[in-house]
Amino acid sequence: MAKRRPLIAANWKMNGLTKDSLSRAKGLVTRVKKLDKANVEVLICPPFTMLHAINQILKGSMIKIGGQDCHYKNFGAYTGDIAPLMLRDAGCKYVILGHSERRSYYNEIDKLVKSKAEIALKSGLKVIICVGENLADRTSKKTKRIIRQQLRNSVPANANASNTVIAYEPIWAIGTGKTATPTQVQDIHYFLRQEIANKLKNIDSDKIRIIYGGSVKPENSQELMAEPDVDGGLIGGASLVVSDFFKIMQNCS
Ligand code: PGA
Repeated sequence: MAKRRPLIAANWKMNGLTKDSLSRAKGLVTRVKKLDKANVEVLICPPFTMLHAINQILKGSMIKIGGQDCHYKNFGAYTGDIAPLMLRDAGCKYVILGHSERRSYYNEIDKLVKSKAEIALKSGLKVIICVGENLADRTSKKTKRIIRQQLRNSVPANANASNTVIAYEPIWAIGTGKTATPTQVQDIHYFLRQEIANKLKNIDSDKIRIIYGGSVKPENSQELMAEPDVDGGLIGGASLVVSDFFKIMQNCS
């Protein structure tokens, strides 16, 4: 049996209008009845406008709901932003922070990710903090240096193994169809766990979940999830198709 309960998280990104999103959520609710929640934790992170309605659909189901980002304060004059407490109010249990799309399109740096994570945790959310290298970093063998830096600088002092999940998401594998091999993923996850043990003393490195994201599909999920340091997945494209996302959950549970 796996040491850590795997987390399978859907990142719907900026996709889907009401009709599609609600029917996708309903489809998932029906299918997960076949799963044992002791074996897998399931999360979906829809766009903000869908949170409330989807949370109603998820009531009584094992599926949890989360946000895709939040602000580093809980109130104030921040046009267009969403506070951690607002996510909680909408039923969220988790928030994804530091996704590479936020880092690259909105110039989010580690320090900002860390302050968002700190307040999200104080507000009662669990956080999924993303790290990952781009293709140039990997080609020039800087992967470990880059993710070590992201890890040390993005994880706040109030993080621990039960309120924080680390997502390893190599940028070159996101939405590209190019998945990292199970060996490449295991190598980095093991490295991240060692780094946590050495540098992030508040976190029990044996207990924290490290999940993988980047073109996870039904066809590759089983072998990725079978690696000893892979504790689940953060799924983009494949999470938009009910049968694919469900298959990934099954492969992991
Ligand atoms: P992908 O996205 O599964 O579409 O590659 C993963 C992510 O960005 O979290």
